[in-house]
Amino acid sequence: RPGNGKGARGLRFTPVAPNKLDQVSVPKGYAQEVVIRWGDPILRGAPEFDEKRQSARAQAGQFGYNNDFLSLLPLDERGREHGGARRQVLVANHEYTDEILMFAGYDPENPSREQVEIAWAAHGLSVVVVEEERRSGRLTPVRRHRLNRRLTATSRFEVTGPAAGHPLLRTSADRRGTTVLGTLNNCAGGTTPWGTTLHGEENFNQYFAHADKVTDPETAARLKRYGISGGASERKWERFDRRFDLSEEPNEANRHGWVVELDPYDPDSTPRKRTALGRFKHEAAQPRLTRDGRPVVYMGDDEKFDYFYKFVSSKRMRKGDSRAAREHNLTLLDEGTLYVAKLTGDSPADQIDGSGKLPADGEFDGSGQWIPLATAGPRGDVSHVPGMSAAEVFVFTRLAGDKAGATKMDRPEDVEPSPRTGKVYIALTNNSDRGKEGKAPADEANPRNSNKHGQVLELTEYREDPTSTRFAWSLFLVAGDPQDPATYFAGFPKEKVSPISCPDNVAFDPHGNLWISTDGNALGSHDGLFGVATSGPRKGELKQFLTVPTGAETCGPVIQDRRVLVAVQHPGEVDGASVEQPASQWPDGPGRIVRPAVVAVWRADGGDIGV
Ligand code: FEO
Ligand code: CA
Ligand code: CA
Ligand code: CA
Repeated sequence: RPGNGKGARGLRFTPVAPNKLDQVSVPKGYAQEVVIRWGDPILRGAPEFDEKRQSARAQAGQFGYNNDFLSLLPLDERGREHGGARRQVLVANHEYTDEILMFAGYDPENPSREQVEIAWAAHGLSVVVVEEERRSGRLTPVRRHRLNRRLTATSRFEVTGPAAGHPLLRTSADRRGTTVLGTLNNCAGGTTPWGTTLHGEENFNQYFAHADKVTDPETAARLKRYGISGGASERKWERFDRRFDLSEEPNEANRHGWVVELDPYDPDSTPRKRTALGRFKHEAAQPRLTRDGRPVVYMGDDEKFDYFYKFVSSKRMRKGDSRAAREHNLTLLDEGTLYVAKLTGDSPADQIDGSGKLPADGEFDGSGQWIPLATAGPRGDVSHVPGMSAAEVFVFTRLAGDKAGATKMDRPEDVEPSPRTGKVYIALTNNSDRGKEGKAPADEANPRNSNKHGQVLELTEYREDPTSTRFAWSLFLVAGDPQDPATYFAGFPKEKVSPISCPDNVAFDPHGNLWISTDGNALGSHDGLFGVATSGPRKGELKQFLTVPTGAETCGPVIQDRRVLVAVQHPGEVDGASVEQPASQWPDGPGRIVRPAVVAVWRADGGDIGV
């Protein structure tokens, strides 16, 4: 049998050792295969990928670049279709493009219109039906399936919720402020209990140019708080579409930085930007239900010293898949209250010295408060932040968090409530500026200055009620080399765990174990995927399941009984690398262009993962 037989159920495999191999390394006894790559055709009429003859038209029908968040949904829930083979619907985010690795001879100062339009088409989302193979975890894309879909930087998105139609969202191309072209920088996301997917628009700031020409001081201050500054943008899109030029369209940036909701079962639906969930660099958005069926969505703002949020809907989910129920459920995220988190440690401040040394009570832990920012309701919206209107809170949520005194965190990334225990896990990836002059010093939730390796925080809502305005928290993992005294693995003996650095995406497996993927390993190994028990005697026993190729981060993860799915994002992204001078030969070998891809891993003997 594969694995060492030890470990929590679901985690019984031989850990993969840290390494710098240009491949996906998996435990002994496991098999792996690429499911789909950048450029693979998924829509009717799309050609096979040809790295030397790329076109925007081809790309618009092909799988996009830099796959990040992944969701696998059952096809027979509402997709109906059934034959012999089982099928699932794969939804993927395409966070960003790396033109120097996409186009031979790319000149960053002078991109061509075609290159820019290819990049627009390589952003966004993909929906692609995949077929399962019997007795293995292999997945094969079903080309031209009626549900297959691409949404790109030029697709139509509807704006819904409290900020829809507000003057701050109006532009010369959309005088009503309700229709946006494109979704950008979709990082992580979430899957809803009503069969839709959520997609965070993260580092949207990088696409907008000429903030330096904006003269109105209030607009300039708002742009600055969102990291939008300077002259030309990195990709120069403003030369080809004036909406990316803030001196021409100062409100276009306000139309990005939202959570997008997509109904992958309805290929004709227009995806929605949900303004009730606030606007910031949305890493992810993961919902759960209250006992009375209302969704609560947890969300991080991935920036050094930014905040952690939740949204509590005032509407209850309807069960079943009648048209009325489906239409109702597509309004759940438009009404409710947006909160930001304030965390208070329970140890004396002088015991938190920034080194990561545990305080005398043996834990980094404390209590917390959800501070309401604004409520969106059917009879109007209410701001809870003095000096800001409700619309301003929803559009400039970071400024509302500043005024509310929220806790400045070490880059809140993905979040996942445990389906077993209800405890919520938040990856805080790192913060090299913690404790620097003029910046916030270490606190009990962010206990290391110049934090290179990050931590994972466990949050327990008061009385296990997701609508509660109080919570308890503790650091579940303080990441790094286990031999480093400034690390902590939920109290598990550290000589028995894998080293981990820079947690980013999190997911639960069917056994209740937390899986963590990393981005930016600062311990000298490639990034990877890890599993860890969150309760029981093996709580904190972290084991590495795979590593990814040179330059890549590990994204996605989806853990099913018989397969692990990961998105290998930006393979070969190393300083100085290009199409001509590649840093990686993955996945297709020497002489072939590097292609981000989704990989499935399964047990070679057909058994369940880790049992
Ligand atoms: Fe796109 Fe925060 O990782
Ligand atoms: Ca403590
Ligand atoms: Ca991420
Ligand atoms: Ca990241």
